[in-house]
Amino acid sequence: MRLSLTHAGLWCLCAAQGVAASVGHRHQHGGSITPETRGHEAHGHEARGHQPHGHQARGHEARSRRDPDVDPRAAAKAAIDSMNSAFFNSTLAVWAPTDPWWLSGVAITSVIDYMRKTDTTDYLDKVTAIFQAQRSQAPGGAGDFRAESTDDTGWWALAMVRMFDITGDRHYLDLAAGDEAYIYQSWSEKPCGGGIYVDIAARTYKNAIANELYIKLAAALHNRIPGDTVYLERAKKAWKWFKSSGMINEGGLINDGLASRKDGTCFNNGLPVWTYNQGVVLGALVELYHATSSTGYLQDARAIADAVLSSSPSKRGNPSLVDHASILTEGDCSGPREASGGCNVDQQIFKGVFMYNLAELDEAIARAGIDSDDGGRPYAKFLRKNIRSAYVHARGKGTSGLAGGADLYGVAWGGLDPGRAQWTATLGTQASALGLLISGI
Ligand SMILES: *[C@@H]1O[C@H](CO)[C@@H](O)[C@H](O)[C@H]1NC(C)=O
Repeated sequence: MRLSLTHAGLWCLCAAQGVAASVGHRHQHGGSITPETRGHEAHGHEARGHQPHGHQARGHEARSRRDPDVDPRAAAKAAIDSMNSAFFNSTLAVWAPTDPWWLSGVAITSVIDYMRKTDTTDYLDKVTAIFQAQRSQAPGGAGDFRAESTDDTGWWALAMVRMFDITGDRHYLDLAAGDEAYIYQSWSEKPCGGGIYVDIAARTYKNAIANELYIKLAAALHNRIPGDTVYLERAKKAWKWFKSSGMINEGGLINDGLASRKDGTCFNNGLPVWTYNQGVVLGALVELYHATSSTGYLQDARAIADAVLSSSPSKRGNPSLVDHASILTEGDCSGPREASGGCNVDQQIFKGVFMYNLAELDEAIARAGIDSDDGGRPYAKFLRKNIRSAYVHARGKGTSGLAGGADLYGVAWGGLDPGRAQWTATLGTQASALGLLISGI
């Protein structure tokens, strides 16, 4: 099925109206971050055992001396404002125009998510202007956010799904559906028995991110288009293929992509286990769960998320994606290297993508009522801990430009070792921190 964009010329920007209409359909999200009261960190090295309830007040006091009570809503708003003043180019209506275009697709998704979670419209005019301007700006693409690669198209299409969620404006969904049709043209049975190519013209590489974004998009469209069967079938087919494609390694983590043999069969190419590849798949499986009510999808997602939280170099050659204090690190370019510019401008945004997708999983698990740990939210503690750490150790407090400017964030959420070079904020590091912060709202 190929949807035509019949509304393209009529794209009505009645966003504010839509928001007013959709308020009340949204559920409430959790409150602010409070200091740990349990004194037990599942993955950290500070475990002191589970404290009885009577000791909670003392635990609270002891911890709050070390860790401030971070309000993720206020921190996220400050991070958006700083991202706008440091990186937004109002002439071109995009952040950091010389950086890769997809980074702005991730940034805008988190700005929209901020409004969705806080029931506010603070940035609605801005994101509306960005969509209008960027609609024709996909690099090498065909307009309407159809880019030269399926993953770049997918990021922006998912941003429009979120825009539909907060505005109820069907034109955003139509654009996302047009992008799905465009991406699906890059699906082929051979090689690998299925999968989406990431590079549209060359058709040489089936990788994890393009397929994860596609599954999330197709399932999300199904969940928002009454009576659909086509998107659901495609999403289920693509996940079934992905799960047995070889992309998930023996340690339960997802490598970058597949390599093919002459006979058309494929195998894991062993390229890095980037955090965003462990992340988008979680959001995709949440959408599939909502589409089907099958908790098997949540179990598949938990297996991947747990593999990240328990990752260590000893496990089948995977790097550790968390440090000794359970703070997420970009294992293949960070850790000790994070401070010395090991992650490039693309890679700097990956961790935030993992975190907002992990929060989507945590919320789905809580609403399904299938986990008894930590108030039914098995990842809430991990999210809180990372938010607090980034706020304390990676947030600029001064006025010294991109290196330390107020509410600009560096790449290393666990902080830099003393004596290491100071970090510099980029659109990647800032949008990554924003993805983390909105996970706590
Ligand atoms: C916006 O970006 C363009 C292209 O990179 C650049 O020429 C221009 O100076 C930028 N404008 C501002 C206000 O930064």
